[in-house]
Amino acid sequence: MRLETDAVIGVFRADKNKRSTIVCVEIRMAWIWKRKSLIATSLIVVVSLFVAAVNYSEKPYFLLQPVFGQTFSSHWMFSKQPYKAFKPHLGYVSVPKQEPLKLHCELCSIVSSSGQMLGQAAGPQIDQSPCIWRMNNAPTRGFEHDVGRRTTLRVVSHTSVPLLLQKPQYFFGQGNDTVYVVWGPLRNMRKDGKGIVYNMLRQAAENYPHARIYVTTEDRMNYCDMVFKKETGKDRIQSGSYLSTGWFTLILAMDMCKEIHIYGMINDTYCKTDGYRKVPYHYYEAGSRDECAEYLLHESAPYGGHRFITEKSVFSKWAKTHAIKFFNPPWQLS
Ligand SMILES: *[C@@H]1O[C@H](CO)[C@@H](O)[C@H](O)[C@H]1NC(C)=O
Ligand SMILES: *[C@@H]1O[C@H](CO)[C@@H](O)[C@H](O)[C@H]1NC(C)=O
Repeated sequence: MRLETDAVIGVFRADKNKRSTIVCVEIRMAWIWKRKSLIATSLIVVVSLFVAAVNYSEKPYFLLQPVFGQTFSSHWMFSKQPYKAFKPHLGYVSVPKQEPLKLHCELCSIVSSSGQMLGQAAGPQIDQSPCIWRMNNAPTRGFEHDVGRRTTLRVVSHTSVPLLLQKPQYFFGQGNDTVYVVWGPLRNMRKDGKGIVYNMLRQAAENYPHARIYVTTEDRMNYCDMVFKKETGKDRIQSGSYLSTGWFTLILAMDMCKEIHIYGMINDTYCKTDGYRKVPYHYYEAGSRDECAEYLLHESAPYGGHRFITEKSVFSKWAKTHAIKFFNPPWQLS
């Protein structure tokens, strides 16, 4: 390369007649061609490396595809699926356009709907978090001091969609950039006109074109079931239970958030601890059943219950390999 460049310059300097001009042009052409082929070769190498890198980093990401089997271990979430910045997530698609959810956050604070939130004055700390996630229709108004003011994302159960639609302007109206991620079984979420909840969401998206509404895909729902089975050894359907909104929230957060702070969630032994704090199941339902009573009822329900306590023991396992911290009450994770 270097020699040829010098030769070209030399010929240029000596150039006085036509012949040497032709020689010069020939040498120059050869040089340019060589340079081009070198650039082309380098480009091919760089592009191949890039493609290889992208492929490599994307493989664990598409968990919708069967990447289970041997690769699935208690550490899989952490080692196989690190946090991805801004990659569209195919497990959640917008209504009605079916565009994948694009989201990422350095720190997500997940605010539980539990009565544990009451009287802890965590609001100001929660509001400092770049991303604040809530569940279902849990209100902020009137509870700001305990739960904070801001909401960046809500994970919503199909059964809570009618509750949001009682205050559509508040939840979906202009100026509200909260992202809504709705989960539900196919029978309610199908997009062929027969999914009653999907139809409601499509209507809401029509009435509030700026609303950011996403639904969990059927594949992703199956994936969440599969995670339950892998972690507990129990088939979710055969055991007659439903996953909780908290389960879907944590699975989503582990894909979207680098760090997770969870407020107001009790651990799996809390309700067996002497002198535990009795609080309402939901902070916004003052007269409702005590949280532990509700949890025990669900845990033992032969059909249609949430396995809250089982789920909590899985969460504590995930917290050992993922940046998850629990506040009010704190969890001791060894
Ligand atoms: C958007 O709705 C949420 C409820 O999800 C509410 O807390 C918030 O105040 C609303 N924000 C705006 C800007 O209207
Ligand atoms: C679970 O919660 C109880 C009550 O707050 C506490 O005493 C216990 O240490 C906690 N266990 C873990 C593992 O965090």
